[in-house]
Amino acid sequence: MTVLDTRVRPALQRSARTRRYVMCRPDHFTVEYAINPWMDPSVPVDTSLALRQWADLRATYESLGHHVDLLPALPGHPDMVYAANGALTVGNRAYGARFRHPERQGEAAAHALRLRSLGIDVAAPSHTNEGEGDFLTLGSMILAGTGFRTSLEAHIEAAAVLDRPVVSLELVDPRFYHLDTALAVLDDGNGDLPADIAYVPTAFSPHSRRTLQDLFPDALRVPESEAAHLALNAVSDGRHVVLPAQATRFAAVLADRGYTPVPVDLSELLKGGGSVKCCTMELHR
Ligand code: ARG
Repeated sequence: MTVLDTRVRPALQRSARTRRYVMCRPDHFTVEYAINPWMDPSVPVDTSLALRQWADLRATYESLGHHVDLLPALPGHPDMVYAANGALTVGNRAYGARFRHPERQGEAAAHALRLRSLGIDVAAPSHTNEGEGDFLTLGSMILAGTGFRTSLEAHIEAAAVLDRPVVSLELVDPRFYHLDTALAVLDDGNGDLPADIAYVPTAFSPHSRRTLQDLFPDALRVPESEAAHLALNAVSDGRHVVLPAQATRFAAVLADRGYTPVPVDLSELLKGGGSVKCCTMELHR
């Protein structure tokens, strides 16, 4: 595959649905260890720039009418800004995280405590999983990534806890180590239009590519070259797609598909291997 799939289709009338997110200020953000290929502790990080860029993302959501709840940042947990990893929440029930790497394990309890304070019932996991980093909801199902962080056993556990069917997808490229770095839910299918996703085929094993092809024949397939800057690490409300500012070609293709791209510069947070989606946990209806 060499170019973005730009098959001509009539521009659809996309509509937004108000969302509820949880975010965590990068008060203690640094890159002091490397648990993914984007992280290089020898590259300096400007924490105050990270804070300004993060504040911009939060303000963007609020200006689109979404609600943001904050999770207090813990010292000694530089990756806590990537709030998506803390759980998967659907309605008033959440499947808690259990992080793969010791450096992040302390984050899980803070997430569970915060979600409980919001009235959400959090199930403690027995298996390794990194929340919405590897679990994306769409229609009545959950797309689940495995290969680098989240275990297959956790897919089954999530299905049981949230009472939803889970489709397991195997990730094979270390640069796309969480599902949300390789696949973006553009329309969750819970409104008037069918579910719609974008993904990087080469990030998946051959059988998982087939699964995606069968389930989403009209999906937007994005070549690896376009997925640099973590273009796919985007957050959609059904109409507005908030995405990394560097992803200009992806933004253009989204516009052709009827979406309104909303670029946000998170260059500093990219140094930790995350962007828009990583910084955003959605509390799904
Ligand atoms: N440095 C973090 C890690 O490697 C980045 C997490 C990105 N989060 C995400 N949802 N993909 O764990």
